[in-house]
Amino acid sequence: MDMCGEVILVTGGASGIGAATCRLLAAAGASVVVADCNEARAKGVAAELPDAMSLVVDVSDAGDCERMIAAIAERYGKLDGAFNNAGITEVSVLNGAPMPESHALPLDVWRKVLNVDLDGVFFCLRAELPLMLKSGGGAIVNTTSLQAHISYPRTAAYTAAKHGVLGLTKAIAKEYGEQGIRCNSVSPGVVDTPLTNGVIHAPEYRDMLLAPIPLKRFATPEDIARAVLWLLSDQADYINGATIMADGGYLA
Ligand SMILES: NC(=O)c1ccc[n+]([C@@H]2O[C@H](COP(=O)([O-])OP(=O)(O)OC[C@H]3O[C@@H](n4cnc5c(N)ncnc54)[C@H](O)[C@@H]3O)[C@@H](O)[C@H]2O)c1
Repeated sequence: MDMCGEVILVTGGASGIGAATCRLLAAAGASVVVADCNEARAKGVAAELPDAMSLVVDVSDAGDCERMIAAIAERYGKLDGAFNNAGITEVSVLNGAPMPESHALPLDVWRKVLNVDLDGVFFCLRAELPLMLKSGGGAIVNTTSLQAHISYPRTAAYTAAKHGVLGLTKAIAKEYGEQGIRCNSVSPGVVDTPLTNGVIHAPEYRDMLLAPIPLKRFATPEDIARAVLWLLSDQADYINGATIMADGGYLA
């Protein structure tokens, strides 16, 4: 995959799937923008990569997203690709507290998950699209989830947000395809990252989560990053409005 000369933004680039994607993109020759709310870790990832920059952004803040794109325009003058990947779950917001049933989910938890996981993708898109149009087109990948297709109990906010991202991806694909912008998503299954590793290795969950996965292992961040790299590349130049299930066959 040759992405030399391309400028690609990765949100949530400081950890897990995002960091793995930054490394693969840089190995393919891209200039990578590592954007994350965790400044120290974003700087750390960018420091490993040639011609990369890190930016601090809270994707749930539309103004922050505008500033992020202004900084990219200033440094590189264009944007060829974006991986809108930053995300959280109810577990992250509840910070170890038990997951309530949906009727008892505190409204601030609902709003926080929707703000980051759905509004955040839209805020990034509305900032990215004008610069991408000025750049003559580009490719976008949004991170959805297995939970854009199915749900688990007590994950209403995350499920709703990820279903929303799947729809948003189709809307952008329809609207901007003729202007040279492709928009797709990746739907990871269970991936071993800091977002999940407190839960998926717990003895009470591990076997239950592995049982429906035909490949009998959790995904690595690199498993997902390879699918993203392909979607962002010219190799996928007729793929638009699609999602790639990267779930080891779970949904099948
Ligand atoms: N790990 C899984 O099993 C799994 C499965 C399906 C989908 N996903 C999705 O993949 C994406 C990446 O998750 P991951 O597993 O790599 O998790 P991760 O926690 O390793 O990485 C997420 C990154 O997003 C950043 N982030 C969180 N909120 C942010 C905000 N408001 N603004 C900017 N950055 C923010 C975090 O600082 C972190 O660096 C998420 O959208 C997640 O929903 C993960």
